[in-house]
Amino acid sequence: MKFVKKFFKIVLIAFLAMLVAMGGLVLFMNSANGDKGDNKTVLASVDENAPKALVVYQPSISKNSDKVAKAIAQGLNEKGYEVTLNYPGKHLDTSLSEYDLVVFGSVVYAGQPAKALADYMATVKAYAPRVALFSVGGLDQSPELDALEKLVVGSSVESKTKFTTKNQDMVKEAKALGLSLASR
Ligand SMILES: Cc1cc2nc3c(=O)[nH]c(=O)nc-3n(C[C@H](O)[C@H](O)[C@H](O)COP(=O)(O)O)c2cc1C
Repeated sequence: MKFVKKFFKIVLIAFLAMLVAMGGLVLFMNSANGDKGDNKTVLASVDENAPKALVVYQPSISKNSDKVAKAIAQGLNEKGYEVTLNYPGKHLDTSLSEYDLVVFGSVVYAGQPAKALADYMATVKAYAPRVALFSVGGLDQSPELDALEKLVVGSSVESKTKFTTKNQDMVKEAKALGLSLASR
């Protein structure tokens, strides 16, 4: 009897610990995926007729997606683009036709793109003529990019790039992507 009681006590503690861990994971993912508000920065160009690019990205906890987004923006800017960077959310326009190029970037949890980004993209009524996508995560597989691509209506996605956090050249490659997008 004593053994049975002890057994049920252990099972109950294990169950409660699992509930707390799952609750913590859900809270963490909701917070990481949520709307982080307006964070507009502009990399200006000396040429007032410069082509315009917008980089919309979900920031991540260790700042990996920020580093990638900023490196892409820097590559574009070095090739003459005026680049606006911002987080996705209700503060952004739903018409992006004033831009020549829009780059969307996401963190990834459980194969899904950030909810704030997917929700925003679902509200966009007019995309720029050129659209590129990137994601930053720990795995090589990128179902999140396919999910984002499906949200782009009326414009075609010209590139989908997964940056993995284990890749030490991630930032260099992101800058190269920016330079290459500007040269197409
Ligand atoms: C619960 C959890 C699930 C994750 N799922 C994926 C995944 O499905 N694919 C992937 O590439 N990375 C996955 N990751 C890795 C994150 O996308 C990665 O940590 C991301 O870069 C977050 O940015 P940070 O490292 O700058 O915080 C996961 C991470 C956590 C914590």
